[in-house]
Amino acid sequence: MSEVEAGNDPVATEVVEQPPSPQPDVPAATGNMIEARGLKKIYRMAKVEVRALDGVDLDVMPNEFLAIMGPSGSGKSTLMNLLGCLDTPTEGTYKLNGTEVSGLDDDELAAVRNREIGFVFQTFNLLARATSLHNVELPLIYSGVGGRNRHQRAMAALEKVGLADRADHRPNELSGGERQRVAVARALVNDPAIVLADEPTGTLDSKTSHEIMQLLVGLHENGQTIILVTHEDDISGYAHRGVKVLDGLIVSDERQTPRFGKD
Ligand SMILES: Nc1ncnc2c1ncn2[C@@H]1O[C@H](COP(=O)(O)OP(=O)(O)O)[C@@H](O)[C@H]1O
Ligand SMILES: [Mg+2]
Repeated sequence: MSEVEAGNDPVATEVVEQPPSPQPDVPAATGNMIEARGLKKIYRMAKVEVRALDGVDLDVMPNEFLAIMGPSGSGKSTLMNLLGCLDTPTEGTYKLNGTEVSGLDDDELAAVRNREIGFVFQTFNLLARATSLHNVELPLIYSGVGGRNRHQRAMAALEKVGLADRADHRPNELSGGERQRVAVARALVNDPAIVLADEPTGTLDSKTSHEIMQLLVGLHENGQTIILVTHEDDISGYAHRGVKVLDGLIVSDERQTPRFGKD
């Protein structure tokens, strides 16, 4: 609770000593940035029950580079959506930087998401009618960053991914690799603690895939935590830790020596 919020709380004003307030950007006492316990996501359909996640425990420390692997339908995106606060679990708890997020409402989840997480998706998820610059500005608009500052930060993010000269292009005026670069710029513009990438190279050719992975390697070197979903072995080879998912469960979780690094 911030001082301003405490000031609005009639109870808090009577308390002399305040308990330490949770700081959004300080990891929990355990040092974990992510602490998930018993996460389940169960879809109840007309006739069947789909246990998309069936009890997942996962701890992630700041600045890890994690690859989540598994066959199609194993629950990778479901797990990603929970970790990214895009969805809430049917059961289980999820602490992000010490804050329990499983009980938050949609607006609170959106605020956490915008502050802490950058997303990169397989199909880019760019606004079709907006320019690269405007797509990259979106997270800043949501966090209330105005005019000039917003423009400068979005341009700086586009420069980081080598696309300053495509700022005025719309997605259909860009190659697949360039679209994904715009998405990476959008993911990093808010300087989030965590970047979640769900099959970011799924529709790209091999050379372009490795270029996109180099951008993620750069973010990791900058101190960001990277969680990458992929079913491609060579792409998972960039990560320092491999987590295998099968039928909604984590079946292995191992440190690995990255096979690729910065060029
Ligand atoms: N909204 C949904 N409603 C019902 N079933 C779903 C939904 N989303 C995913 N599933 C099911 O949950 C399982 C895991 O899906 P998903 O997490 O997308 O797998 P992956 O990303 O590993 O391919 C699949 O069997 C899928 O059909
Ligand atoms: Mg998926």
